Amino acid sequence: MITAENIVKSYHGEQVLKGVSLTVEDGEFVSIMGESGSGKSTLLSILGGFLTPDGGRVLWDGTPLSSLTEARLFALRSTRLGFVFQFFRLVPTLRVRDNMLLPATLGGRVGADTEDYLSELVDRLQLGHLLGKYPTELSGGQCQRVAIVRALVYRPETVILDEPTGALDSGMEGRVMALLRHVNEKEGTTVIQVTHSQAVAAYGRRLIRLSDGEICG
Ligand SMILES: Nc1ncnc2c1ncn2[C@@H]1O[C@H](COP(=O)(O)OP(=O)(O)O)[C@@H](O)[C@H]1O
Ligand SMILES: [Mg+2]
Repeated sequence: MITAENIVKSYHGEQVLKGVSLTVEDGEFVSIMGESGSGKSTLLSILGGFLTPDGGRVLWDGTPLSSLTEARLFALRSTRLGFVFQFFRLVPTLRVRDNMLLPATLGGRVGADTEDYLSELVDRLQLGHLLGKYPTELSGGQCQRVAIVRALVYRPETVILDEPTGALDSGMEGRVMALLRHVNEKEGTTVIQVTHSQAVAAYGRRLIRLSDGEICG
């Protein structure tokens, strides 16, 4: 369970999140929508422990992230969370396949079935012909799909995705969303996604609207 309590965050004196509270239970599939600039990416980064709020706190299963050392937080993130950044953050010096396996390797999560699961994910998102390439040789949509595989391959308990279909055509969008529905329903993975698309949001079973740094409706 991920809980945010009264999260406040400012950049250069301007408040971007103005007291956001929410709880996401294990196994939920939650969509977050809101205008550009409403603080969605900032909120996801804070929920994932990549960014520290100025006020309030985030708890994972009751443990405040602020109580953890940087090393413990890293260990927790890299074993329990898959995160797809809005702008992907692939490692430019690593080939696609090594990018996909990097967090799993760092988190010590490469298991007996990792290779098989990687192949399955790569097939589902049609990335097999790109495994030996570098991120700079890929389109935006291809980078996005690589980032999604990277987030899912070690079967994290929770996956957080920032506009995961923003660079995809509708066919590939359908494949990605079917995959997210599959991991949610069949593996019990908690899914938290930000999207601008009503159709993509509808895959979630709960919708949270963010407006001007606050949850509304
Ligand atoms: N690292 C940063 N430094 C300064 N301002 C930022 C930074 N990140 C985001 N912002 C600002 O905070 C606001 C919310 O950004 P963001 O969380 O990315 O919104 P969204 O994802 O909803 O579009 C925007 O006005 C953006 O310009
Ligand atoms: Mg954003």
